[in-house]
Parts: sequence; C-alpha cells; structure tokens
Amino acid sequence: MSEQVEKGRAVLVSGASTGLGRACARHLDHLGFQVFAGVRREADAEALRAASSPRLSPVLLDVTREESVAQAVALVSAQVGAHGLWGLVNNAGICVSAPLECVSADQLRHQLETNLIGHHAVIRASLPLVRMAHGRIVNVSSGLGRIASPYLGAYAASQFAKEGYSDALRRELRPFGVGVSVVQPGAIRTPIWEKVSEVGHRTLDGAPAEVAELYRACFLRFLAANDRRARASATRPEAFADAVAHALTARRPKSRYRVGRDSRLTSVLSRVLPDRVLDAAFATIVGDRRLATGSSGYQGAHV
Ligand SMILES: NC(=O)c1ccc[n+]([C@@H]2O[C@H](COP(=O)([O-])OP(=O)(O)OC[C@H]3O[C@@H](n4cnc5c(N)ncnc54)[C@H](OP(=O)(O)O)[C@@H]3O)[C@@H](O)[C@H]2O)c1
Repeated sequence: MSEQVEKGRAVLVSGASTGLGRACARHLDHLGFQVFAGVRREADAEALRAASSPRLSPVLLDVTREESVAQAVALVSAQVGAHGLWGLVNNAGICVSAPLECVSADQLRHQLETNLIGHHAVIRASLPLVRMAHGRIVNVSSGLGRIASPYLGAYAASQFAKEGYSDALRRELRPFGVGVSVVQPGAIRTPIWEKVSEVGHRTLDGAPAEVAELYRACFLRFLAANDRRARASATRPEAFADAVAHALTARRPKSRYRVGRDSRLTSVLSRVLPDRVLDAAFATIVGDRRLATGSSGYQGAHV
C-alpha cells in the first residue's frame, strides 16, 4: 500500500460531500495530508469539518462553474503558497442512466460538463500549483470506462473520454515530473446508485410516451439489476481511498487502478471478448431475448 506520506502535503479532492470522495478526503486527512475537500453546500462543509482533523478544509467547488473553480483554486493557492499542490483528485461525478433515445441533448451536455469538462477546468486552473510541487493528478473514472453498458451510454461516453483524456495528460505532463493516474472503481454502494435510479425514472417519464414504452421493460429490469449489484457489492469506499492514497504516495504510481473484482473483470473482458459476445451478455442482463438469442427479429434499437 501507500509508502511514507510526507506530512502536510496538500491535496484537493472534488466531490467530497458524500460517497467515495468523502471517504477519500477523510482517509487522506487521516494519513496526514493537508486536505482541501470540494463540496457544493455549506451544510456538507460543516459535516466534513465535524468529522475530520483541523488539517482538512472544506472548499466550495462546483466543477461546472468557472468562477467557482477559479475561487476554489485561488483559495488553495493562498494557503499552500510556494509549496504548491501535491495532489489533485478529480472525483466529482454524476451518472445519467437512461436509454440514449430518451436522453436530451441538455442532459448529455450536463453529463459531459460534470464528468469531463468540469475536471478539465479544475485541472487547467490547478496545474501551475501541481507543477510547482511536481505532484500527482488522479482522475476517477469507472469500470465502465472500458465497456459501455446499455442504458449507461451518456455516462460511458464521459468515462471513455476521461480515459483518453487521462492518457494524453499523463504523456504531456511526464516531462514536468507530474504523475497522472486513473482510478476505475467497480460497483461500490454510495448515494450515486439511488440518484441513478431516480434520474433514470425521471428521464423515462420525461420522454415521449411512445419512445419510453419501447424501452420501459428492459430498462426497469436493468435498474433493478443495477440496484442488486450495488447492494451485493463487497467493495467498500475504503478500498477506493486506498487506491487513491497509493497513487498519491507510491514512488512509482500506476497509470490505472482497478478497484473491486468487477472492475478488474471488466478490464479483462473488454480486451478478450468480441463485441458480439458482449452484446449477447448485456442482452441477457436486461432480458432482451431477441438479441440474447440472436433471432432475426432483432431490429437493433434496444441494446
Ligand atoms: N460508487 C460507484 O459504484 C462508482 C463506480 C464507478 C465510478 N464511480 C465514480 O466515483 C465518483 C464518486 O461517485 P460516488 O459513488 O461517491 O457518488 P456520490 O456519492 O453521488 O458523490 C458524487 C460527488 O460528486 C459531487 N458533484 C456532483 N456534481 C458536481 C459538480 N458539478 N461540482 C462538484 N461536485 C459535484 C457530489 O456533490 P453534491 O453532493 O453536491 O451533489 C458528490 O460529492 C464519480 O465520479 C463516479 O462516477 C463510482
């Protein structure tokens, strides 16, 4: 696991109000980092303060708002001075789950704004500080950054993009001694799963009825399967926090960390299975028997 942590090194974690970001911010605080924990509400800042050491400072940060990004980074800069920022953990994220035909252009834009463009804005604003420290950037992607599940097309688009973005960034920042790692969690039970279900139902209900009906049965089965998967997952947020800590402290951090058995399995399957086999596997999961059996009745609209 993590090698020796140099006490007081500064790290900014976005999306620290709940779930993985919160677990990570608290773990890094426990390890002795000076943590700047990005939240969007004062109430979340208060809760984090109460649960952490005085080293942890909540920072108001909405990654989709440029002025918020600028203010947060200015605040960090004023605190760290010439030491710079050792770590930037781009964790904030949302997940739009719905059949792509039901996803509006605005929803897709919001998905990409949060999970990709927002991180880009934070990275650009923070890079002078990270370069100063010859530090590390950790981008949180997903096991779905390599395999696109049906009904998670918008989310997968953001995660596939983040993977490519991170590879390019790692190669560009190498000459400056700045490391870039990607952490790909598998299913870990956090509030994101309830939000996925809520957004999914809302999106389906907001789509034209004749379109929604085409997908409803399979999509609802998919949401139920997702929910079971999250509840049954043995992976805990602490495993994610450990992976981030390794990326921030190891002498030679990995370019990719797969957290959880399902994430590791997805990575292998994406490399060895042909698309036809993956298509059939997903069709079985969502109960689309036309594709699962390869019958000629399949018209290609569903998965
Ligand atoms: N849990 C999993 O199974 C899983 C699997 C693969 C990947 N991931 C990835 O892990 C990351 C964390 O997810 P999680 O499971 O911890 O979900 P979560 O509990 O829903 O946390 C998401 C965090 O992102 C924040 N956020 C959302 N939009 C934001 C914005 N515009 N600006 C700043 N912060 C924003 C949320 O803040 P608010 O509370 O203010 O909304 C919250 O702090 C995400 O990037 C997700 O894609 C999670």
